[in-house]
Amino acid sequence: MAALTPDTVDIIDPDLYVRRGYPHDEWAVLRREAPIYRYERANTDPFWAITRHADIVNVSRQPELFHSIQRLFVTINEEGSPAPDEAILRQLLNMNPPEHGAYRAIVNRRFTPRGVQGLREQIDRITAEVLDGIVDRTECDFVTEVAARLPLAVIAEMFGIPRADWAMMFRLSNMMIGPGDAEYAGDETILETLQRARMEFFQYFSQLCEDRRQNPRDDLASVLANGLVNGAPLPIFELMSYFALLIIAGNETTRNATSGGLQAFIENPAQWARLKGDPSMAAGAAEEIVRWTSPVIQFTRKATADTNLCGVPIRAGDELALFYPSANRDEAVFDRPGVFDIGRNPNRHIAYGIGEHFCLGANLARLELQVMFRQLAERLESVESAGPLHRMRSNFVGGIKHMPIRYRMRPRA
Ligand code: HEM
Repeated sequence: MAALTPDTVDIIDPDLYVRRGYPHDEWAVLRREAPIYRYERANTDPFWAITRHADIVNVSRQPELFHSIQRLFVTINEEGSPAPDEAILRQLLNMNPPEHGAYRAIVNRRFTPRGVQGLREQIDRITAEVLDGIVDRTECDFVTEVAARLPLAVIAEMFGIPRADWAMMFRLSNMMIGPGDAEYAGDETILETLQRARMEFFQYFSQLCEDRRQNPRDDLASVLANGLVNGAPLPIFELMSYFALLIIAGNETTRNATSGGLQAFIENPAQWARLKGDPSMAAGAAEEIVRWTSPVIQFTRKATADTNLCGVPIRAGDELALFYPSANRDEAVFDRPGVFDIGRNPNRHIAYGIGEHFCLGANLARLELQVMFRQLAERLESVESAGPLHRMRSNFVGGIKHMPIRYRMRPRA
């Protein structure tokens, strides 16, 4: 096979992500030879691929110079794709200072370490229930029956959404994140799928919002419904988008860290034995799982002025894509980056981003992953793969749709 060079790598074709998973070899070539690389190909609009840890940190910490934009991630030009400036949602991830901070402040308190600690018992209970659901069998689809259930249940309970509606939340957030995947989109184009999911989400949330304005409770839906930005209620489009953002972000990422994490343990039995021998390693394991899986592949930024990165000139209006999984395997930052090591310390991964848009849900995701892997280590007596992984067709979120496993699980202590 011909050696990879920056000009021959493909890091955005979503079909390649389905077939081979993350292009770690390709990112390594870019980090080594062209860390600020002008990616120009026939099937996409040109952008700068940023692949080193230090450069992603540098860009993320300058939110005035590198704006967040409507188009959250770069992809190939496919028929039926939304135009780059199509506003599917208007939410934190495509807002900029000072508006961004004013919006983020509305819900921030619920997601601080202290806000999230209050959820520990609830997360423990839900995790145990989810595992009870597969205890009497020896095979399951780990994604749909375990990994997807915890984050969905937690965010839905935080919102005060009744259990009968959780399946709908799951279906709509899959459509929003995987509109290019036939299993989620059916016969519709990407844009049609996004618009239909948005319409159904908005219909649901407008009723929920109305209810919480009449009967406020101590839940996230009430906080948003009655939230103010600069002293005024949120405009309807931004309000509905905020609901959708939290449901989608709360659902789609932790799920993939959980599935990818278990897969990493199956492939690295010594690390699994280590965690089983000492479940108090779950906190470090959760960080390493997130570094290793880096569920968000990329977010974009747009330069607001002419500038340069490491001496490479960037023009105002240029788009940049920040490839987090690449940063998290950067040899300049991590000792033996290609080794899955749950005792890794320090672990300066940036899977949750960094700077202005640092993941709002990071404390929640950490707690969910810690509780899940602690309970799995305590209860799973054996686990192995029972068939191939099915990956989502996306270059934005590294989604695992199905993951058959064979196992023996102990009842709850
Ligand atoms: C392993 C799980 C997760 C990963 C890897 C992850 C990753 C990320 C990343 C990379 C960003 C963007 C950083 C940037 O643009 O600079 C982000 C932002 C965000 N995340 Fe997460 N996330 C996870 C879980 C969650 C959860 C559970 C929630 C729950 C609500 C959440 C809500 C958000 C929100 C609202 C933002 C936008 C923040 C802003 O723009 O200010 N995330 N996340």
